Amino acid sequence: MRKAAFTPARRAPLMRRMETPNHPHPPRLRAFVRQLEHAVAHAGGEAPLLSRARALLRDLVAHDDWLPAPFARPHPQHYQQYLLHADAAQRFSVVSFVWGPGQGTPIHDHTVWGLIGMLRGAEESQPYARDARGRWHPHGPARRLQPGDVEAVSPTIGDVHRVRNALADGVSVSIHVYGADIGRVRRHVFTEEGAAKPFVSGYANTAVHP
Ligand code: FE2
Repeated sequence: MRKAAFTPARRAPLMRRMETPNHPHPPRLRAFVRQLEHAVAHAGGEAPLLSRARALLRDLVAHDDWLPAPFARPHPQHYQQYLLHADAAQRFSVVSFVWGPGQGTPIHDHTVWGLIGMLRGAEESQPYARDARGRWHPHGPARRLQPGDVEAVSPTIGDVHRVRNALADGVSVSIHVYGADIGRVRRHVFTEEGAAKPFVSGYANTAVHP
């Protein structure tokens, strides 16, 4: 029954695996998740939620002493996306992105709110906007994120960008928070000419830590 793969019943085993020791909950991350749960439940709208969550993420990435090494491990060919925490009600997820030298993304969207907090190294985020013919163009200057910086995306404030490791010879790590279980969200990558291709990112560690 192929359709059953997307039912809540089939999701339950994955959620249980997230509570095993293979998933990291050091005290700093645990406190962040608890505070984020409170913010998501009480913020009352995207703008106040992003403001509160941005402050929380800024505090989290102000310290680089909590991310376990398996969740900061680069892949030689492409960037990695490790799930750190998935809210049981799927209201948000916390993910580490690990960029090897020269690695980056295509132009892509998120379809939900997201926050990017720089933990280690540096990355460059270039916003894109679509013209009347449907082509994507850089929109404003690229932003270079340094450790401690936080950037926001969402369909209401600007949702399309391209990201790359700003270090040519080092690994960079950023901590992302999204308003959904982002590894399961159907979203899009784009060519500059405007072609859209749907994708679902998944997570590197659901395969590595079954
Ligand atoms: Fe992104």
